[in-house]
Amino acid sequence: MIVTIDGVAASGKSSVSSGVAQALGVPYVSSGLLYRAVTLLGLNAGAELADASALLPLLPGVRLEPLASGNRVWNADHDLTADLHSTRVDGGVSTVAALPEIREWVDAQLRALPAPLVAEGRDMGTNVFPHAPHKFYLTASPRVRAERRAKERPEDIPAIEAALTERDRQDTTQSAPAPDARVIDTGPLTLQGVIDTILADLR
Ligand code: ADP
Ligand code: CDP
Repeated sequence: MIVTIDGVAASGKSSVSSGVAQALGVPYVSSGLLYRAVTLLGLNAGAELADASALLPLLPGVRLEPLASGNRVWNADHDLTADLHSTRVDGGVSTVAALPEIREWVDAQLRALPAPLVAEGRDMGTNVFPHAPHKFYLTASPRVRAERRAKERPEDIPAIEAALTERDRQDTTQSAPAPDARVIDTGPLTLQGVIDTILADLR
């Protein structure tokens, strides 16, 4: 069984996926972390982020560890996880995610994982696992999302809101609900409320 949880930036995908996966006793996989890892390695190498040929040599060392408690991403034996949610990576990741060669590599990593699992990102329900029997798409207003993320970033709420809105715009191509996804506005719900809504639907 595969459950897909897609949605816009900071809509709660990874927290909700972790909660749902733990309740089901299965792993979850955060696809955005792979795009973030390639972006971090590209920035550190001084690569042009829009140039796939500069990024492709960086991919073989990258490995995702899909633990139920929280995903980790490694480059060979170096744990990148703590550095993947910086404002610098936020600013470059959509450029990397627009490259078909990088998307193909991420998709192959995800499809190689054994089911059952919960997969979260932008195109899990539409592109990577189109035959998944259970699909969800999380939304919330830009202000609500910025207020949530402000607890995790040094910038103020208007700056975070502007950056989120810009990233949503850049991600439009790959971020749309699958026709058979249940869309959940997380704005009025607590984190546990969203998790319970999904678990109730699965039962
Ligand atoms: P995403 O994976 O979509 O970027 P996260 O899971 O990182 O989103 O959530 C962003 C922040 O919002 C986290 O601090 C998380 O705890 C918080 N959060 C997520 N969903 C809710 C909710 N329904 N109510 C309140 N806070 C939430
Ligand atoms: O957590 P947040 O929503 O801020 O971001 P994320 O899920 O970690 O995704 C980071 C970026 O990766 C997104 O802004 C997209 O550009 C890209 N992404 C994607 O294109 N497709 C996915 N399945 C997941 C992420």
